[in-house]
Amino acid sequence: MSERLVVIGSQWGDEGKGKMTDYFACRADMVVRYQGGNNAGHSVVFDGKKYSLQSIPSGIFNPKTVNVMGNGMVVNPVSVIAELEKLHDQGITDYQLYISDRAAMVMPWHADLDGAFEAKKGKGLIGTTKKGIGPAYSDKYSRVGLRMGDLLEPEYFAERLNAALEIKNIELESYGLPKYEFQPVYDRYMEIARILGPRITDTSKLINEALRSDAKILFEGAQGMMLCIDHGTYPYVTSSTPSAASVPVGAGISPKWIDNVLGVAKAYCTRVGEGPFPTELFGEQAHEIRERGHEYGTVTGRPRRIGWFDAVVARYVARLAGIDNWALMLFDVLSGLDTVKICTGYECDGEILDAPPSTIARLAKCKPVLIEMPGWKEDITDVTEFEDLPQAAKDYVRKIEEITEVPVGMISVGPDRKQTITISEKLANF
Ligand code: GDP
Ligand code: IMO
Ligand code: MG
Repeated sequence: MSERLVVIGSQWGDEGKGKMTDYFACRADMVVRYQGGNNAGHSVVFDGKKYSLQSIPSGIFNPKTVNVMGNGMVVNPVSVIAELEKLHDQGITDYQLYISDRAAMVMPWHADLDGAFEAKKGKGLIGTTKKGIGPAYSDKYSRVGLRMGDLLEPEYFAERLNAALEIKNIELESYGLPKYEFQPVYDRYMEIARILGPRITDTSKLINEALRSDAKILFEGAQGMMLCIDHGTYPYVTSSTPSAASVPVGAGISPKWIDNVLGVAKAYCTRVGEGPFPTELFGEQAHEIRERGHEYGTVTGRPRRIGWFDAVVARYVARLAGIDNWALMLFDVLSGLDTVKICTGYECDGEILDAPPSTIARLAKCKPVLIEMPGWKEDITDVTEFEDLPQAAKDYVRKIEEITEVPVGMISVGPDRKQTITISEKLANF
């Protein structure tokens, strides 16, 4: 029977999912992305080189691993080709990659509309990646979207493209944006079909075949639970569900297969884009952590906002996504601070809340209840065993476990594959 592991982001994205997926991908037969698109930016570092992936799964560096872009994703084929070209330039030429024929396609007008919606929102803008993710998911659910499999049937593609353009051109015009002509789009996408066509297939079939064998399968989440369209800080969220719960739908498998969820969380918090962030730090302290952690967006280069570890969020996410273990990331970044803090509750209108409220109006009023613990000065970037961490660092880990009631199964002490401490036996044996 196969072994499965779901790697999900547990905060506001950029927790280090790429690093953890790559770490396990060395041993995995298959890596599957099941939601999101090229709004993701997953960094992988090994042998002194750094790679950045947007829509391609982080198993791409292991020639033996089958990489799958599942039906739950929104796939921008132009971006996929550009990513593959970049990987080729970096010497990554031997890989296996398949794209679901059911995956929604991100078209050029989606990015145009993403930009236009944001511009219209003025001060209330979401701060999206402007990759067209929201408009592409909206079209999927409005049933006017194109799908990757359509590229394989030129006549059907033409029909769908005509239908989409009829509606999209009205929308584009209403925003004062240029319209799209059928023929140039059609020709361009037929060229794309020639390049990517051989990779487009019924990926649910591939995954289910792997599930029925002894395969080790990793499901790589994108974004983070607080950006979830259902459970995140709505409307300052992305347009998909990063939870382990979206794996079955987004990969085309039965939910019964999901039984091992690794919640990737930074040892502090970051957020890019707008929206409330209860433990946010400002000034010198935020600056110090941002610089040490190189906290600038992989996709947009924006400086990431910085905050203390939010255990209210962690408990909420553990409840929603069934986290079995935390992977506590960027732990090295906290070395050198005099004290470190953890948020254990939110104080709001004289009440202490133990979970985020549903509206951002209320969340914006929440003040973090913080506990303060001694920091540690030692450089921990070479530590490979939990026991060798400074006592204060161990205490910090134990406190997170105690408050969240979820064990810390992995600790990351640097961006490189090797800078990883594995505590959980189950994860060590994956
Ligand atoms: P993802 O979107 O969740 O895959 O995360 P990103 O790749 O966008 O952002 C995480 C950043 O932290 C990347 O630059 C990683 O190389 C880096 N990183 C990951 N783990 C560690 C760690 O333990 N320590 C440090 N210093 N950097 C890390
Ligand atoms: P990874 O997979 C961090 C944020 C954007 C914005 C909001 C909506 O690298 O963790 P969108 O373009 O999705 O409509 O933007 O979500 N966002 C991310 N933040 N990491 C990501 O992905 C993100 N993907 C989207 O900044 O606030
Ligand atoms: Mg990222």
